[in-house]
Amino acid sequence: MTEPQTVVHETKEQLSAAVSAALAQRIVAAQQARGIAHIVLTGGSMGGATLTGLRDEQYQMIDWSTVHVWWGDERFVPSASPDRNETEARDALLDHIDIPAANVHVMASSDGAHGADLDAAAVAYATELAGYAGSQSGAGDGVLAPAFDVLMLGVGPDAHIASLFPRHPAQRMVDSTAIPVRDSPKPPPLRLSLTFSAINAAREVWLLVAGTEKAAAVARATAEGADRWDFPASGAHGTAATIWWLDDDAASGISTV
Ligand code: 6PG
Repeated sequence: MTEPQTVVHETKEQLSAAVSAALAQRIVAAQQARGIAHIVLTGGSMGGATLTGLRDEQYQMIDWSTVHVWWGDERFVPSASPDRNETEARDALLDHIDIPAANVHVMASSDGAHGADLDAAAVAYATELAGYAGSQSGAGDGVLAPAFDVLMLGVGPDAHIASLFPRHPAQRMVDSTAIPVRDSPKPPPLRLSLTFSAINAAREVWLLVAGTEKAAAVARATAEGADRWDFPASGAHGTAATIWWLDDDAASGISTV
């Protein structure tokens, strides 16, 4: 577990450009070190802007053939739904780059191979994660997932991350890596999510946050002794780094000196 660092940029645009650049750098570094990069994508506006930024000319040198992408959570809706984080990521980046289909590890849709069976969909994702856990990685205690090079998370105004919401029992499901979430307080009610066990197996956890409406959540989740049951974002930590990427507005409730 690592102590959180904050990186603050003035505007949301400058922030997403900085995150895109850092992500490109981490992908190349992981490929050089291990021959493969595992990246976890997030939905939300910051996640989308970061991916769109990677389409820039300067990142054409990225070799996507050894990059694997995963998701932190997904809304359990039909595959064609614009509400899926997958749809957003395909529009923002994946449909514009040369990445093998087998490297794109989507969470199931409600009309996919498992139909409406949310539990089976979660098990399938956990199985997929275990298949890539490798020898050098894992969430520990028999919970198998890749040691993601970068795991990105959006943060809600209530400090939720992935589909782990404040005081929601899904937070306590840590014996697996991917879980079904029912009764989500934010629609839709059915979702799939990584657990804290999978999230905290990542080398670097990045929390991407912009806007004044997030300032209170950022301040509370980064406060000394914050409880993840109340503020889930406070419970996400990488093994090598935990970085809160903030714009001035999101950082306005914390001291950055
Ligand atoms: C969802 C949302 C949500 C989102 C955060 C941050 O799952 O319903 O996608 O989890 O990622 O609220 O979103 P923004 O970056 O757009 O603020």
